[in-house]
Amino acid sequence: MPPCILGIETSCDETAAAVVTLEGQVLASTLSSQDDVHRQYGGVVPELASRRHVERIEFVVKDAMDHAGIRYRDLQAVAVTRGPGLAGSLVVGVSFAKAVAYAANVPLIGVNHLGGHVASAWLGVSDLSFPCVVLVASGGHTHLFYVPSRETFQLIGHTLDDAAGEAFDKGAKMLGLGYPGGPELDRLARSGNCTSVHFPRPYLKRGGLNFSFSGLKTALLYYLKDLEAQGIPYSVADIAAAYQEAIVEVLVAKAFRAIRQRNVKGLAVVGGVSANSRLREVLTLEASAQDVNLALPPLEYCTDNAAMIAAAGCQAFRLGDTSSWDLDVEPDFLTSLKNGVEVSTF
Ligand code: KG4
Ligand code: ZN
Repeated sequence: MPPCILGIETSCDETAAAVVTLEGQVLASTLSSQDDVHRQYGGVVPELASRRHVERIEFVVKDAMDHAGIRYRDLQAVAVTRGPGLAGSLVVGVSFAKAVAYAANVPLIGVNHLGGHVASAWLGVSDLSFPCVVLVASGGHTHLFYVPSRETFQLIGHTLDDAAGEAFDKGAKMLGLGYPGGPELDRLARSGNCTSVHFPRPYLKRGGLNFSFSGLKTALLYYLKDLEAQGIPYSVADIAAAYQEAIVEVLVAKAFRAIRQRNVKGLAVVGGVSANSRLREVLTLEASAQDVNLALPPLEYCTDNAAMIAAAGCQAFRLGDTSSWDLDVEPDFLTSLKNGVEVSTF
């Protein structure tokens, strides 16, 4: 049995566990989605999320261990997301991880959720080398990192308001699409005309690497209000495609601006939004035009998962950087993250 690490992720609304070898091979990755719980509210309800984690965590961890075909005593360590995320949800994963690590007599490793997303860049077939730039675009974050090595990353740009995934989700809600909105909007936009409307490209012209998506959301709101007030019929698919195009164009432009500014040749785009089909298409075209080495995680590792947490845990384990038994959750980690600050992957 190759030496491996159990990863546990419960920062938001996915209960996930995975077993990854120290070489980075995923032996098992199990995920229990809570979409059925939160759909009726149109967003994640923190109290319900933590309760569902309590109900599912044992089954999910056992399932990952069974699929990997290993026993607890075969583990080298247990890695768990310590933040950022919902406090009540994080507590469930951290408590369970402590129990497993203590019982198996192996080290516990607290992992930064963003570091996990960064680590997902190497989970697929990827020959991305260092230094590189990683864009984390998800429901909670839109962060550009300069990554000099597997151990650290430095924030070089971030959203000033909504995250890209939030822009997708809120736009989808305004367009009357289902939950979760991002994937629904992606699907519908495939049959729409992205040039039918020109939505603003927020912060595109400005030289920096920061993002802002709240104005785009407002532009969509007023555009729909105008159409409805005038009784003009419209194609939801066309508007979805045009709205998506504005988000994609800004993400791609800033990511490539970052690699030019940092003079690197490698770019990874990770996080839930990196599952977006149009974003993947435009990134791939641009990377080949600019001779950039692009890494996109396989779809299952774009959205929250535990394989990325175990992968980040492997880095920490190699460096002997383990946590103590009083490891606490860090729900607000993001608020302390400022441009230029270098942080550890774990
Ligand atoms: O990484 P993730 O699972 O959770 C966070 O850490 O936030 O990202 C979830 C976000 C949601 O906003 C979801 O709508 C968005 O990623 N997302 C997508 C797609 N799949 C997931 N957005 C656009 N297109 C998609 N295909
Ligand atoms: Zn995430």
